[in-house]
Formats: sequence, C-alpha cells, structure tokens
Amino acid sequence: MKYGYFDDERREYVITNPQTPWPWINYLGNEDFFSLVSNSAGGYAFYKDAKFRRLTRYRYNNVPMDNGGRYFYINDGGTVWSPGWKPCKTELDKYECRHGMSYTQITGAKNGIEAETLFFIPLKTWAEVQKVKLTNTTSDVKKIKLFSFMEWCLWNAEDDQNNLQRNLSTGEVEVKGSTIYHKTEYKERRNHYAFYHVNTAIDGYDTDRESFVGLYNEFSEPKAVIEGRATNSEAHGWSPVASHYIEVELQPGESKEFIFVLGYIENKEEDKWETKNVINKQPAEAVIERFNTVEKVEAALNELRLYWDTLLGKIVLESGDDKLNRMVNIWNQYQCMVTFNMSRSASFFEVGIGRGMGFRDSNQDLIGFVHQVPERARQRIIDIASTQFPDGGCYHQYQPLTKRGNDAIGGGFNDDPMWLILGVVSYIKETGDFSILDEMVPFDNDMSLAQTLYDHLTISFNHVVNNLGPNGLPLIGRADWNDCLNLNCFSSDPNESFQTTENNTEGSKAESVMIAGLFVVYGQEYVELSKRIGKVDEAERAQTEVNKMIEAVKSKGWDGEWFLRAYDFYGNKVGSDENEEGKIFIESQGWCTMAGIGKEEGLCEKALDSVKERLDCDYGIVLNNPAFTKYVIEYGEISTYPAGYKENAGIFCHNNPWIMIGETVIGRGEKAWEYYKKICPAYLEDISDLHKTEPYVYAQMIAGKDAYKPGEAKNSWLTGTAAWNFYAVTQYILGIQPDYDGLKIEPCIPADWKEFAVKRQFRGAEYNIRVVNSAGVNKGIASLEVDGVKQKGNTVPLFDEGTHEVLVTMG
Ligand code: BGC
Ligand code: NOJ
Repeated sequence: MKYGYFDDERREYVITNPQTPWPWINYLGNEDFFSLVSNSAGGYAFYKDAKFRRLTRYRYNNVPMDNGGRYFYINDGGTVWSPGWKPCKTELDKYECRHGMSYTQITGAKNGIEAETLFFIPLKTWAEVQKVKLTNTTSDVKKIKLFSFMEWCLWNAEDDQNNLQRNLSTGEVEVKGSTIYHKTEYKERRNHYAFYHVNTAIDGYDTDRESFVGLYNEFSEPKAVIEGRATNSEAHGWSPVASHYIEVELQPGESKEFIFVLGYIENKEEDKWETKNVINKQPAEAVIERFNTVEKVEAALNELRLYWDTLLGKIVLESGDDKLNRMVNIWNQYQCMVTFNMSRSASFFEVGIGRGMGFRDSNQDLIGFVHQVPERARQRIIDIASTQFPDGGCYHQYQPLTKRGNDAIGGGFNDDPMWLILGVVSYIKETGDFSILDEMVPFDNDMSLAQTLYDHLTISFNHVVNNLGPNGLPLIGRADWNDCLNLNCFSSDPNESFQTTENNTEGSKAESVMIAGLFVVYGQEYVELSKRIGKVDEAERAQTEVNKMIEAVKSKGWDGEWFLRAYDFYGNKVGSDENEEGKIFIESQGWCTMAGIGKEEGLCEKALDSVKERLDCDYGIVLNNPAFTKYVIEYGEISTYPAGYKENAGIFCHNNPWIMIGETVIGRGEKAWEYYKKICPAYLEDISDLHKTEPYVYAQMIAGKDAYKPGEAKNSWLTGTAAWNFYAVTQYILGIQPDYDGLKIEPCIPADWKEFAVKRQFRGAEYNIRVVNSAGVNKGIASLEVDGVKQKGNTVPLFDEGTHEVLVTMG
C-alpha cells in the first residue's frame, strides 16, 4: 500500500495519509541550524550540535510515537484540531504533507478552514521560519482561535532528560510583545538564548507547560486550547514552553498569513545584557525583521529553491525510468547532503546525544556529496584529519560543535585511517585541487603536531602496514567497518558497550580480510596520487606493500568458494565453510572484488556467485550466512542480534553497493542493476506497509531472510548507504567517473538498456553525455566522441568552460 506519491516536478514526496507506517520525516537547514520535521510536524530544532545546543525538546521512543514538535492548534467553535493531524488527531477533511528540498509544507482542513503550514530554515540563518496561512472556504464569517506551541529543551539534550533535580529549577523566560525568549542559564555560562516570535499582535501567551497543557492533560488536549484562552503564564523553573494565542476573524473566502520565527542567538560577553537581568534582544529583533512579511519569506524560500537547483544541477540523469531518475536526480543526492550534515547524530533512530561525526562515516559520506559543494567537503576533510593521532589511529567520532575527538564513544577501529584516503582522493578527482595536500593539519587537534595532509595519508597507509598479523593481513583492532565484529572484546558483562569495552589486542591474532581489500583499493589510490605529485619512490614503496597484501589475500584470505572474513583472536578462520554459522560474509566479498584480487584466476567471479547463492534474497543481500543463533564471545556484538537483524544477517544496505561495484568489475551489468533495484526506496513504494520507513530515502538496514519479518526496514536517513548507492549507480553502473584528467566513462549496464543521457557539470564546464548501447552489451566502449571529435581511450578531456557534447557508443 502507498501513503502518498512522488511529485518529481516539485521535487517533493507528497504524503496523503497521516498514519504512515512510521513517522516519515524531513530535514530542514543546510549549514548551522537544523530541524527534523515529521509528516505530523513532530521533531525538534538545534544549532550545530543535537546534543549540546538543542533548542526544542523531543522525547524519543514515546507513546504514542512521535509526540512533541512545533504544533499549531485551532479551536473553531469548540472543535479543536491540528493541521498536521497530530497531536489532536481530529479527523480532517483534508490532509497533505509535502516534504521537499529542505522544506516541509503540511496542510490540513476542517469545517471550512484550511490551514497551510510551511516550515523551512532560510539560507545562512539561525532560525526556523514557519508560515501559517488560514483560509475560510465557507460563505460565513469565521472566528477561530490559533495557538502555537513548542517546548524548550534546556540546551544539553542529555542533561535535559536526566538531571531533573537541577533542571526543574533553572528555567527562565522573558516575553516582549509577540516574542517569547528562552534564557535558561544565560546569566551564567551561556552566551546564547532562543526566541519564538509571530509577526502579529497576540491576544495572549503561555510560557509555562503546566499552565498551558495542564498537569494531567496530553498534547492532544492542552487545557488552554480546550478552554479557548491563554493564561499569560511566566515560567520560573519547571518546564518552559512557548505558545502564542491569536484570535482570527476571517471573512468568507478570506486568507490570513502569519509568520513565526524560532531562532537562536549568540551574544558577545560584553553585549549580553540590555539592563540588569534583561537580555539584549537586538540581534533577535534583527532576525525577526528579516522575515516579518510574507514577501520576505517567499523571497527566502525562493533563494532556497535556487540553492537546490544549483546543487542538483550538477548531475542530471535521463534514463527513461522515472524511479531511477528521481533517485539519482533528487532523493539520493538530497539524502547525501543530509548525511553529510548530520553524520549519524540526529534522526528518528539516532537520538542526537550519543554520536557525533564519525571518522569513517564522514569520509564515506563525502563521496556522495563532494560534487555538490566541494568547498565544504574540503573543510570537512581538514576537520576529520585534525582528529587523527600521530600514529595514524583515529578518534572514531568527534563532536560537531567543538570539532574535537570524543573518546567516550570508543576507538581502535583499524579500518578508520584508510577512509581518509578515499575522502581526499574523491575530493581531488572532483575538483583538481591538489593544494589540499599541502595544508598543515594538526594531530589530535594539537597544531604544534601539525603535518601536511599528504603526510596524514602516508601515516594512514602506514597504520595498516605497521599493524599486520601473523598471516600478513591487517590486524582488526576493536573492529573494522563492521562495528559489531568485535574479535578482541570478549565481553561477558551486559552493562558494558562493545564499542568501549576493553580492547584486548595484546597477543591477538585477529586479522581482517575486509581491511585487506580496502587497503588494496585505497593503497592503489595512494600510489597513483603519490605518482601524480612526483613522489615516485614513495609510490614504489607503497606499491610493494599493496602487492604483498594481494598475495596475502590470495594465499591466506581465500576459502575455496569465497573470501574469508577474518581470523579471530586465536587465529581461527571467520567466514569459512569450516564454520558452523557465519560461513560467508559480504564485506570481504565486496572489498576483495572491488580490488579485483584474483580476478584473472576467477576468484572474483566465484566469490560473487557465492554471494548470489548464499547471501542474496528478495529484499537485498544479507550480511552473513548462516545467521548466528547463539552468542559467540570471541565474535562479540554481531552474535548478540537476533538472526536477520542489523549486523547479524540483516540486509545492511551500506554494503550492498560494494557488491554492485564488484559485479561491475567483472562486467555483470544485470546483476549490479538487480541488486541496485532491490534496496532502492523508490522501487519499494508499493510495499510501504512492509518496508515501513520513507520511500524516498534509504534505510540502514532491512530485515534479512532469517528475520521474523523479512523486508522490514529500520534506521532510515543517516547511513553510508546514501553515499555508496549514489557512488555505485553514478560511477559504476552509469559509469561517469570523475578522474584526475577528466571524466572517465565506463558504464556497466543491463544488456537491454538501449541508451541514457547524463548532464554533468565538472570543473567549470558542462558535459551532455549520451550513452548509446545498440550493440546490447554490458560493458565496453566502442567509441567516444567529444564535440564531434573521436577520442582515444575512454576519458573525456578537461575543458575550463562551455557546454560539450559527448557521444559514447558501447560495444
Ligand atoms: C550497531 C552498529 C553501530 C554501532 C556504533 C552497534 O550497536 O549495531 O551498526 O555502528 O553500534 O554505534
Ligand atoms: C553504523 C556505523 O555508523 C558505521 O560506522 C558502521 O560501519 C556500520 N554501522 C556497520 O557496523
């Protein structure tokens, strides 16, 4: 069953039934200020960091689900309803939620009143703007009462939920005109406050939750709304909130629009106060002034639209398949931007207090984003590399606000350093900007330890070389990409986290075949990069190490029909036919085939055939098989999950594209495409009831074939799946690859695809690439013409400007 439809023209997903199988959300904001907004206006706002600067309160895993947000209530002659259906849940005459590119518009109608609510964060603005348009569609005069409502979070979202003995006494607000100011802790160590404003005179307000909602009422029936009046309450401690009360009279056919602004302000120490205990409101008033008319708001929304036109204008596909077009041109790119901004911090599955920016995650996110805003990718690379340790090891995560490594989340993941090479190489290939390699970048954020970014890459490369195990394969450390394959943790205490428990690497023989494959792929890239900047000796040294690794994988990492996954602490095989459970794993098949290890001898083909036979199912490729059915202490968290979920034989969508790319390495276009479609959300819209999460974005995990309900997805939005699928489909299936000397064209498609076209902006010029496959092949280029001139090889040369016609004939 479907709960809406795609409106590709407007780049929106339109939800027409509010009771989606799970809240279907959107993200607002592009740089510093962000909001999450569900299809019933649930969610919250924060400045930069969902843990340290949360503006509005949100309670996760609540009953009912998705309770709390920025709510509007209408009391129309005693009938109380909300435009987003929730929280009132009054049956509406009309409901529609349009999630677009960084904006959401929710419209509800009841008894002849239509309420259209628009939410967005204007560019370069630390505020969420909300436009409420009320229309009287009847032939009678209507007098209605409009209430806004949201709850302030006391900044530190973790403390907000657990330190009630203090927090219930600290809340402070001010009200001036139609603006409610939240200033808790401002008089001591904070230099920031928040405000909620409406651009009209109000008939009352509330700032104290108990006065507005009532102590035993729910959000669906706030006392003030039911009684049809505000109490002008002033919060002192307890739970500060912000609610405006406006009496609205509408003539037949008349519309009125109100603009609400929810903003965040930072003041300099010397500018904090207007007078004693009265905050300096000038900067807030300046923001309010920028959005105090409908015209100004429309103009800001237009700017946002143009911004997205520009971002999404860089790669435009015309394939003849609407679903593929909308994923490539709109939603997959949009999700890549969101993951780049959020890493894994705040979604409806990530509570915004546990995880900041991941070292490996953010490097991978970059490959789906770097073409959109390369300058931001550059800064991100420097930020990430700055948290690296001098020996190449890494903080696994850092906090976006401080940009400092966060030790409390765990470390010692030996794949981490390799991803930096991926990030940097992707950036240079897209931009041609080699100067980034000369940037002086600190270690552990200590500038006195700074070395060039190129040195960071050398040190990353060496981190693998310096940490090899008995078989010449990379030692795994706490874990590799698979956070749950914890070969050195031996945890028997349910109170400890696998991510932070002691990492017993002393005397360990635990090696990772996945890191070996990763090392071959990015080690090779490091060799190529070193050559390009004239470091010939270093390139030669590195090539020798890569070659040794290839040999080690062939002799110690091959199991007969597929690549082994690892060796455990004791040196026993993991992911071998010899094992009873977990005989085969996806990650090493992906990385070793992407690396082309043993391609000539047929190893890649064999490994991928084994994937098809043992790991593939109706909904995608599972991570391992057979699933673990009991806890294996020497394997760790992977064996804690019930069979078919998460890292234990779930369809971990992040790694499916590794197999797609592997398939393109051996030229099997049908297989790559089949795997792409299986997990791609637009193709799953019709089974939304089963799939559960949004049909416009990827989920991290779909329950695998051993699960109770195969096909059910979880953890949508913040996942490396977004970047990897975009990378796989654009660069390996469609085959348009940014490279140092131009755009390399190497499609690998189903034989029955006749043609497709891609418009690609690249280093200042635009390329209209038409790929024709009348020969009906999977891979291979018979000829390449640029502006009518035949080229040697398959790289479109660089132009500094202009539009260029590229004709690719496969065969
Ligand atoms: C999850 C992983 C995640 C890790 C780190 C584990 O419980 O299964 O997917 O990466 O936690 O937060
Ligand atoms: C999610 C984490 O964010 C990512 O870093 C990890 O690689 C996967 N889970 C697999 O465990």
